[in-house]
Amino acid sequence: MRFMKIVLAVVVCLAVLLAAAITFTIGWRPFIGPRARPLTGRVFERTPQRWARGKYLVEGVTPCMDCHSPHDWTQHDAPIVPGMEGAGMDFSVMKGLPGRITAPNITPDPETGAGTWSDDALARAIREGIGHDGRTLFPMMPYENFRHLSDEDLASIIVYIRSLPPVRNSLPSTEIIFPVKYLIRSVPEPITAPVLDPDQSQPVKRGEFLVKVAGCADCHTPIDDHGQPLAGMDYAGGQIFDGPWGKVATANLTPDPSGIPYYDEALFLQTIRTGVVKARTLNQIMPWFVYRNMTDEDLKAVFAYLKTLKQVKHLVDNTEPPTMCEICKVEHGGGDKNHKN
Ligand code: HEC
Ligand code: HEC
Repeated sequence: MRFMKIVLAVVVCLAVLLAAAITFTIGWRPFIGPRARPLTGRVFERTPQRWARGKYLVEGVTPCMDCHSPHDWTQHDAPIVPGMEGAGMDFSVMKGLPGRITAPNITPDPETGAGTWSDDALARAIREGIGHDGRTLFPMMPYENFRHLSDEDLASIIVYIRSLPPVRNSLPSTEIIFPVKYLIRSVPEPITAPVLDPDQSQPVKRGEFLVKVAGCADCHTPIDDHGQPLAGMDYAGGQIFDGPWGKVATANLTPDPSGIPYYDEALFLQTIRTGVVKARTLNQIMPWFVYRNMTDEDLKAVFAYLKTLKQVKHLVDNTEPPTMCEICKVEHGGGDKNHKN
């Protein structure tokens, strides 16, 4: 009797400890599924103003077509394969992803694209990370950034992508490896309150919004083996991109002497418009050919915001051979010149 009581007490203790461990580490979402709200029947009215704003955002700011279309990676401006705008991209060409990832066909084709998905299904996928079929989207789809899109900007993007010519193109579906497949379920967060237009009055505020929805940090902040951003290294560069475009590390965009202190507004605009920094040609994985469609005013705002970034000492130089970096723990050009202090 006494022995049974001890066993029972131990089992209860272990269960409590396990529950606490789950609560304070990965949380319960991997087991019970993502936070998601039910879909509504809302339809976004197709107005010319929305279409124009949507086109501007999609083609110049939120790089939807950069990920959702196949490219000719042999060219410096990585053009979209003709007639395939929005028809999806198979990311198996890119090394280092946890599984086979596909950015789906988002053209209005009813069989292979988004033709039968409701407006609200698109809205929920874009800002809240739940696919039309209820699945948690792999957060490479930058829904965590797109949460900051106002209701009006979201409606504009949807009105625009609905106007794309439908393309018939079926692609393999995303297959994420275990345990990542379950862990990502804690990322989605429903939006239940209105999201207002961003404060566009001050250049720095305007720039901060643009940089967020353009996803600059997703590439320019270095990450650990689990794909998580390294603490204190915002925009400090060193994330590796390996694929048909070659193998390059992202640049340190902070105003530190090891970053881009020598940029002025004119050089920044020229770089984004041409993909060339003086005599140095930027690799085509840097989507300058998207951002070049921004207005002068918006690009100036982006630069004004970059100038306010906290300086981080981290040299990344793709013109030098890759060497191990003590700071971000990967091999990149100039890595051996970085030391932890
Ligand atoms: C950095 C690359 C990237 C960018 C930029 C991007 N997407 Fe995605 N998107 C993806 C990937 C990858 C998936 C698939 C994720 C998965 O299968 O788990 C996806 C999924 C989606 C889905 C979900 C489809 C479904 O199953 O319901 C929609 C809709 C979508 N994207 C629209 C957009 C729009 C609109 C934009 C621009 C505002 C955009 N995406 C920008 C990579 C991207
Ligand atoms: C898909 C990943 C990706 C995204 C998104 C991205 N970049 Fe880059 N960027 C790169 C890579 C890689 C390089 C380095 C290219 C090289 O050295 O050839 C780079 C280089 C640059 C450079 C050149 C720095 C130098 O060496 O002189 C600037 C400026 C820049 N990015 C700004 C931005 C801004 C601003 C944004 C957002 C609006 C952005 N990037 C978004 C990948 C990205």
